[in-house]
Amino acid sequence: MIFLGWRRLLHFCGRTSFRKDFKQKQRDCLVWRCCHGRTSGRPLDPELRMFLEENTEIIDTGSLTPEIKLRLLTPNCRFWHDKAALWPYGEPYWAMYWPGGQGLSRYLLDNPKVVQRKKVLELGSGCGATAIAAALSGASHVVANDTDPVAAAAIVLNCELNNVDPFPVLTENLIGTDIGKWDLIVLGDMFYNEELADSLSEWLKKCVQDHGTEVLIGDPGRPYFVTHQIQRKLHKVSEYVLPESSPEENNGSTKTFIWNYQP
Ligand SMILES: C[S@@+](CC[C@H](N)C(=O)[O-])C[C@H]1O[C@@H](n2cnc3c(N)ncnc32)[C@H](O)[C@@H]1O
Repeated sequence: MIFLGWRRLLHFCGRTSFRKDFKQKQRDCLVWRCCHGRTSGRPLDPELRMFLEENTEIIDTGSLTPEIKLRLLTPNCRFWHDKAALWPYGEPYWAMYWPGGQGLSRYLLDNPKVVQRKKVLELGSGCGATAIAAALSGASHVVANDTDPVAAAAIVLNCELNNVDPFPVLTENLIGTDIGKWDLIVLGDMFYNEELADSLSEWLKKCVQDHGTEVLIGDPGRPYFVTHQIQRKLHKVSEYVLPESSPEENNGSTKTFIWNYQP
């Protein structure tokens, strides 16, 4: 399978799940030993930095937030065309800027008051764009969380690209745990399978009810999101028309939506 095929699969990500060997591959790879836990305060492994710099392209076009530069996997990258089996790490979900994250980032950049002087957590950060948007918009404290340690490394590189002081990136699975008081949790394109949709909605409910945390969700209408019972507790905050290239890459979605979860 080539990455182009892999990307198409992801367009249907409401019907797919991470590969079963994902965790095993992560354990085997270099980054797992170097970055597991948190990146904050630790230098990035030089070998991993070189790998990511050589195998991604810096992009600031084709998304809703041209003011944020990102290292992504594009047709100009070797692994776009190469066999996925040659990719030495877990599936690079971080190497795409998903429509849910794009909409959320746009919303935070256009409405800085939503994050100003606030403690903001981005769950399932991927490339880290939404956490970067929160930092650029004046959040007092930003933390990104992604269980893929390579995503954590990519986020550090993307902070550098945007002259944002690197914020902590946690790689533990926070879902189901008590994370204490946060002003705002943001999450983009995270409702891509039933199990995740269920555990996320339960956990977010507790965060809101126990700590008064605000929750903003970005989603282009993934099947497991639009059919989930969480819909009854959502209030639409904004919507954006996706850039022209997006529908082809995102299962035909032409728009992305921002929702406030009020359980
Ligand atoms: C579809 S991507 C969305 C990335 C980003 N939010 C965006 O919109 O561009 C989902 C991301 O969630 C991460 N992820 C999956 N399960 C997770 C979990 N339990 N906790 C934190 N991150 C998780 C994946 O590694 C992946 O980077």
